[in-house]
Amino acid sequence: MSLAFAIRDFPSETERREKNLSNYDEIGDAVSHKVGVIGGDGIGPAVIAEGLKVIEAAGVNLEIHNYDLGGERYLRDGTVLPDSVLEEWRDLDVLYLGAVGTPDVPPGIIERGLLLKMRFELDLYINLRPFIVTGDENNDGHDFMVIRENTEGTYAGEGGFLRKGTPQEIATQGSVNTRHGVERCIRYAFQLASTREQQHLTLVHKTNVLTFAGDLWERTFHMVGEEYPNIETTYNHVDAACIYFVENPQRYDVIVTDNLFGDILTDLGGAISGGIGLASSANLNPEKTSPSMFEPVHGSAPDIVGTGKANPTAAILSGALMLDFLNENEAAQKIEKACADPKTQSGTTTEIGDAIAAQV
Ligand code: IPM
Ligand code: MN
Repeated sequence: MSLAFAIRDFPSETERREKNLSNYDEIGDAVSHKVGVIGGDGIGPAVIAEGLKVIEAAGVNLEIHNYDLGGERYLRDGTVLPDSVLEEWRDLDVLYLGAVGTPDVPPGIIERGLLLKMRFELDLYINLRPFIVTGDENNDGHDFMVIRENTEGTYAGEGGFLRKGTPQEIATQGSVNTRHGVERCIRYAFQLASTREQQHLTLVHKTNVLTFAGDLWERTFHMVGEEYPNIETTYNHVDAACIYFVENPQRYDVIVTDNLFGDILTDLGGAISGGIGLASSANLNPEKTSPSMFEPVHGSAPDIVGTGKANPTAAILSGALMLDFLNENEAAQKIEKACADPKTQSGTTTEIGDAIAAQV
């Protein structure tokens, strides 16, 4: 694949930092964005190729830096995510990832060593996942978003074994909730809700059982809420939220929740809104102190590799989120619109990609 490479007059890295630029439109006439691309494993490379094809068709210039990482790479030479690569990424604008994971690699190695390491080290503390549920014939669907805290909770990895492998074995897995981490996530969600028509934010947790973490989340939610008097707020327990997702998702606008609840709830979100083949996500560092990462919610799906059955729409929509974040809003909107057109949504991986590219 070859992407337009229209770079003239690049500002220096220092100049960029001083002016706090994520792209170059304020300096030169050429706009290009530095993107680290990790196709990854399984269907990852194929769906990302379609995503890049669509971005090119939308007329956005990217400077692509490819990274061969994931389960296959790990099996080849033991590499997961070297610190030197992380350092290189700090000079990029964004990262675009397909899927990582191979059945032959034991669980946890790639998840913790690559995906979670990216989220933690780059401080991608917001995981934003948008959904559209189709309505009845009188409306064109309802969109809502889940803001999942992305660096703490049970994902922080607190815990361990005692007397492993014996009948007296003990395994603990803690949940880390810092005031700082919870507050910045909730504040982001309020801020996002304040930009939307419905002006509504729901906190999802399990305060009736997780009385420590839940208490911190709830208190912080009310405290930050005082800064946003126009936002209507609701609280739902996570189990009840699962019922509402299925029976009445129209009640939601923006949802904010902890890392694990958000993980589970967003798979359900995918299932109620056209399937996981459409679910996109953004792992954000809102202050842009490091590159944010965009990826489809689905995994590497080794069972369908090479069959052309993988729907690239989730990857393409994640690309649209990426463009939106890069202030390429017009291109992002065109892509979202093309993905929503049922005419683009049949055929093989490349046929769907081609149909979307042709429309933008
Ligand atoms: C997701 C995935 C990851 C997560 C896994 C692969 C570590 O399920 O992005 O939702 O649990 O966050
Ligand atoms: Mn998940």
